Amino acid sequence: MKISVIGSGYVGLVTGACLAELGHQVTCVDVDKLKIKLLSSGKIPIFEPGLEELVLRNVSQDRLAFSSAIASTVKKSEVIFIAVGTPSRADGEADVSAVESVAKEIAKAIKGPSGKAGAAYKVIVNKSTVPVGMGDIVTKLLIKNGVAKNRFAVVSNPEFLREGSALDDFMHPDRIVIGAQDKRAYEVITELYRPLNAHIIFTSIKSAELIKYASNAFLATKISFINEIANVCERVGSDVSEVADAVGLDKRIGRAFLSAGLGWGGSCFPKDVSALIHLARAKGYNPEILESVLNVNQAQVEMFVGKIKKTLKNLNGKVITVLGLSFKPNTDDLREAPSLKVIELLLSEGAKLKAYDPIVKNVDQLKNKGMISLADDPYEALQGSQALVIVTEWPEFTELDLKKAKQLMQKPYVFDGRNTLNAKRVKEAGFKYFGIGK
Ligand SMILES: NC(=O)c1ccc[n+]([C@@H]2O[C@H](COP(=O)([O-])OP(=O)(O)OC[C@H]3O[C@@H](n4cnc5c(N)ncnc54)[C@H](O)[C@@H]3O)[C@@H](O)[C@H]2O)c1
Repeated sequence: MKISVIGSGYVGLVTGACLAELGHQVTCVDVDKLKIKLLSSGKIPIFEPGLEELVLRNVSQDRLAFSSAIASTVKKSEVIFIAVGTPSRADGEADVSAVESVAKEIAKAIKGPSGKAGAAYKVIVNKSTVPVGMGDIVTKLLIKNGVAKNRFAVVSNPEFLREGSALDDFMHPDRIVIGAQDKRAYEVITELYRPLNAHIIFTSIKSAELIKYASNAFLATKISFINEIANVCERVGSDVSEVADAVGLDKRIGRAFLSAGLGWGGSCFPKDVSALIHLARAKGYNPEILESVLNVNQAQVEMFVGKIKKTLKNLNGKVITVLGLSFKPNTDDLREAPSLKVIELLLSEGAKLKAYDPIVKNVDQLKNKGMISLADDPYEALQGSQALVIVTEWPEFTELDLKKAKQLMQKPYVFDGRNTLNAKRVKEAGFKYFGIGK
């Protein structure tokens, strides 16, 4: 099938490359000309394991191309994916202006009556995470901008991939949700995904739109729940890891997303929980659980930094090492990363920060503050430090040479914001260890 993917970010690029791998003819489009230039010259602007090889292979086999020309790309496509960003506005509402703008661009490219020469039926698939009702808005925008009703159908096909394991998630999804009103469109999209042999769920467009928000909100709830239990553990003398292991063995609950820590961040959970709260409120419902989920998450980093402050007393002028900056391991994504909040709070106390991340190497907005330096390896970051603070659970941190770390540091404090180190080993190496919920 001939496919265009509008928006070549984490979701669009992975979608485009994976669909090409399935044998489709894909063109990825973006307004960001620099991104398209990089991609066209074989450079991948993001870090996602396996993506570079996948892109290069499909480009070399002529199934994948990049373009900034939306009109010509859309005209020759049977299926058009919208995969642009839908960030949060200040009040939590999802900003859907990029989706609307793409809908208008598509309309401009394909407008005309059904009899128009070369006017073929097109399926417009919304992969961006959008508030319920966006499918109707896109449909209306296309009609209002001159596209005949019978020349297209809008489908909602939310994406559930996780950064860091995006290719595997796309190729082996737990389910594919197709929200459609039009039987022909549903059949086209089912055919497009047929090589994946996946469990396909057919729903209304509005249900598909809510399925995405409900999934992310539930996962965020699980994390905030275990963080709340962790905070109780600290006060009553239980160990949250032991609690979570046993609770998680209950098949009705499951162990996934029950790891206590600094809370959730990233480009999806914060904005999606906020957008769902906004959506519910706009319809006259007060979503109390979701509001608490957000509040518990916001308080988690503050409590953690409070613990560091209480232990080290005055942070002013103290050198602190932050290990891990990306919002989770195996990605370079810093959007809403808990590290940013930890760093901001530590800097506001006058601490001097040295940081290290295996992938994130350029954090100009932090370095500009003049009080944070990025090291090339964890040991360089630990030199002369008074506390080691783990913010992201990159696997390499569990392999740290603790003896060497202890010799390099000035004071023996370890604050493990992800319970990723072996506490016993850390203590045996002579450190004072502070985890979450322990
Ligand atoms: N990142 C994830 O893990 C993930 C997972 C599931 C769903 N989603 C959803 O997918 C959508 C995209 O997320 P992302 O992380 O890929 O965002 P992103 O910011 O990485 O990519 C969005 C891309 O769209 C481009 N763009 C913006 N306006 C455009 C326009 N008018 N025409 C063409 N291109 C345009 C931007 O330049 C950017 O390259 C969001 O709605 C997000 O909630 C993201």
